[in-house]
Amino acid sequence: MQIPTTQKQWQLIRDGNAYKLQLGEAPVRTPGANEVLIRMHAASLNRRDVFVMAGQYPMPPRAAVVPLSDGAGVVAAVGSGTSRFKVGDKVTPIFFPNWIKGRPTGNATEVSLGGAVDGVLSEYVTISEESVVAMPASLSFEEAATLPCAAVTAFNGLFTRGRLQAGDYVLLEGTGGVSIFGLQFAAAAGAKPIITSSSDEKLARAKTLGAIGGVNYRTNPDWEKAVRPVTGGAGVQHVLEVGGKDTLQKALATLGPGGHIALIGGLGGFGGQIPAPALMGANITVSGIYVGSRENFEAMNAFIEKHRIKPVIDKVVEFKDGASAYKLMESGEFLGKIVIRIAS
Ligand SMILES: NC(=O)c1ccc[n+]([C@@H]2O[C@H](COP(=O)([O-])OP(=O)(O)OC[C@H]3O[C@@H](n4cnc5c(N)ncnc54)[C@H](OP(=O)(O)O)[C@@H]3O)[C@@H](O)[C@H]2O)c1
Repeated sequence: MQIPTTQKQWQLIRDGNAYKLQLGEAPVRTPGANEVLIRMHAASLNRRDVFVMAGQYPMPPRAAVVPLSDGAGVVAAVGSGTSRFKVGDKVTPIFFPNWIKGRPTGNATEVSLGGAVDGVLSEYVTISEESVVAMPASLSFEEAATLPCAAVTAFNGLFTRGRLQAGDYVLLEGTGGVSIFGLQFAAAAGAKPIITSSSDEKLARAKTLGAIGGVNYRTNPDWEKAVRPVTGGAGVQHVLEVGGKDTLQKALATLGPGGHIALIGGLGGFGGQIPAPALMGANITVSGIYVGSRENFEAMNAFIEKHRIKPVIDKVVEFKDGASAYKLMESGEFLGKIVIRIAS
């Protein structure tokens, strides 16, 4: 493979507290010892990337950063001593490049792609081979590009921390990236997903993906009261809580005895009380989830392969139109993931 010396790259250029997205040229960095050079084929957005651009995500004081944590591509060159991957391997960088396995130690969760360090919205990425996983063979580059943040987060919320079992009821909030992966994973494991949305059309679509129940939270502000009957009155065993202050109390009200709530997001802003006595009384487990490690990612990929799960992609936009992917995410007019094609 012929490696160019320069490449096209999207950059977030600091503009006060926020950033402006700009397409530019950048050098291609030759991989050093134990590094791989990845020819990126696709990238995908998370809500976090919109927060980054708006200056609502903790960022180092750098004048410019390459955006997006999530992408997939093929190894184009390797540095000396590289042993995990070879040229031609299809790979996906991990969200936290320094969190390999076990509990996060040191600064493992302070450094994320498209955050404290450059991300993947670039024709080439040079990165430690330790910070990369093999793509599930059953997925395309575009599908694999959706996995590093939202999917790993949903997987850890349900399985690693939630210990989900077949037959459990699972509540998903909204039809964005984390929630749709949560729906697909829960359904594949034989659990019973119930989902909320602001749109009846999206609820209908979610049912085709395996949801056994759905509640429109816009037309039904007391949606938590509509969730319980779907469980026969007993309550759900799992919640992936992404709404934050708008949803936390309602989500807690849907939980049955022995349930688990994974605190993940703050779509409506962070906040809300944790009612300790009620949670103790019902033996509820509350977990904070921050994406996960390479080990978690690899476990999830095995699950995806085993169950032949296909990520739900709402739209694929071309690399030159990268800014339109952000606009689509800001509009909320999508279900699942938004992907940017970098190369065919
Ligand atoms: N802790 C972590 O490691 C981690 C990892 C990934 C994401 N997150 C966080 O989790 C949240 C979701 O991320 P995402 O990437 O999945 O988002 P996303 O793909 O942008 O999903 C947004 C969807 O959520 C629904 N929604 C929006 N506001 C809502 C609200 N106030 N209450 C309930 N539902 C609402 C809407 O669904 P409908 O259109 O169907 O109504 C919207 O389309 C974000 O806060 C993100 O920062 C955290």
